[in-house]
Amino acid sequence: MDIHAAVVRSFDAPPRYEAFDLPAPSDEDHAVVEVLAVGLHPRVRSGAAGSHYTSTGSLPMVPGIDGVGRLADGRAVYFVADDVLGPMANRTVIDTRRSVALPVGADVLKIAAAMNPAMSAWVALRRRVPIEPGQSVLILGATGSAGQMAVQVAKRLGAGRVVGAGRDKARLDALPEVGADATVALSEDADATAAALADAACEVDLVIDYLWGKPASEAMMALLLARSDRSRALNWIQIGSMAGPTIELPSVALRSANFRLQGNGQGAVSTRAYLAELPSLIEEIDNGGLRVNAQAEPLTEVERAWTTPEVPGVRTVLIP
Ligand SMILES: NC(=O)c1ccc[n+]([C@@H]2O[C@H](COP(=O)([O-])OP(=O)(O)OC[C@H]3O[C@@H](n4cnc5c(N)ncnc54)[C@H](OP(=O)(O)O)[C@@H]3O)[C@@H](O)[C@H]2O)c1
Repeated sequence: MDIHAAVVRSFDAPPRYEAFDLPAPSDEDHAVVEVLAVGLHPRVRSGAAGSHYTSTGSLPMVPGIDGVGRLADGRAVYFVADDVLGPMANRTVIDTRRSVALPVGADVLKIAAAMNPAMSAWVALRRRVPIEPGQSVLILGATGSAGQMAVQVAKRLGAGRVVGAGRDKARLDALPEVGADATVALSEDADATAAALADAACEVDLVIDYLWGKPASEAMMALLLARSDRSRALNWIQIGSMAGPTIELPSVALRSANFRLQGNGQGAVSTRAYLAELPSLIEEIDNGGLRVNAQAEPLTEVERAWTTPEVPGVRTVLIP
């Protein structure tokens, strides 16, 4: 079937809007959908650059990892796609087993923008390290789309105190509006940052980390050194690596405290477990429980949208 899509032909160049040949659905579990909205998430960019840990190196590819589409029977669905035949097209083929029907009248822009950033904390706190009522949480990188959602997700899932840490002052100051009890400014001054983190968050039970790199290793030591009871578990859930792909961590950090370091992502949690969480998360977003900032751009303008710097904290959504 002839379609129009954002097509990546080189990992060094942005996708271009062009004609593409859509393969027919391979079996009864697959179906063609009319695509309604697709989020341009950081994960979509790393997939289209061939640099995500799941990348296969196959080209050409149509980028995107999820989206909202309409089946031939008229039902709107949220679906999870694969990297090679992604959803940035006016039509795509989905695996219907990886899709969930949306409530009638659901805001497709909001669903396409929010599902990926919200899912990281939602699955982390329900499947990876199930949160217990009243536990306290630090979000490292709370000013990005996923971090802002994580503050709200933690509260919705029963967290007590939630602390948001990030660099951008304006978005940090806005975090209490979505539920943060305290905020910490991450600055170039390592000592001041460590002192502020220790003061605001040394007794937390969980950390959701979107940064990794230097800010994460410095925060680990700041929290562990200031903790009143180091035998009380500190569960650190590694999710993103905006500040760097590696960290340096003294081995003593793992011996001198009940410090549990784990990640959350494709592989750390099964696909089955991810899929099982989709309906409840869709309901939460649809009923307004999680606030998201989204900006719509036409898919025909994908090359411009791809190369224009993101407005931080606002998720771009491409509309075919
Ligand atoms: N594993 C999963 O399931 C999963 C799901 C969703 C997202 N993620 C990952 O989580 C990360 C965040 O995603 P997102 O959607 O929130 O992206 P985003 O909206 O682009 O936000 C990223 C934020 O990272 C911060 N940042 C970047 N470099 C930094 C540095 N050197 N030091 C401190 N802060 C820095 C920026 O905060 P400031 O504006 O304050 O500078 C920015 O707002 C990405 O790595 C993404 O791939 C993983």
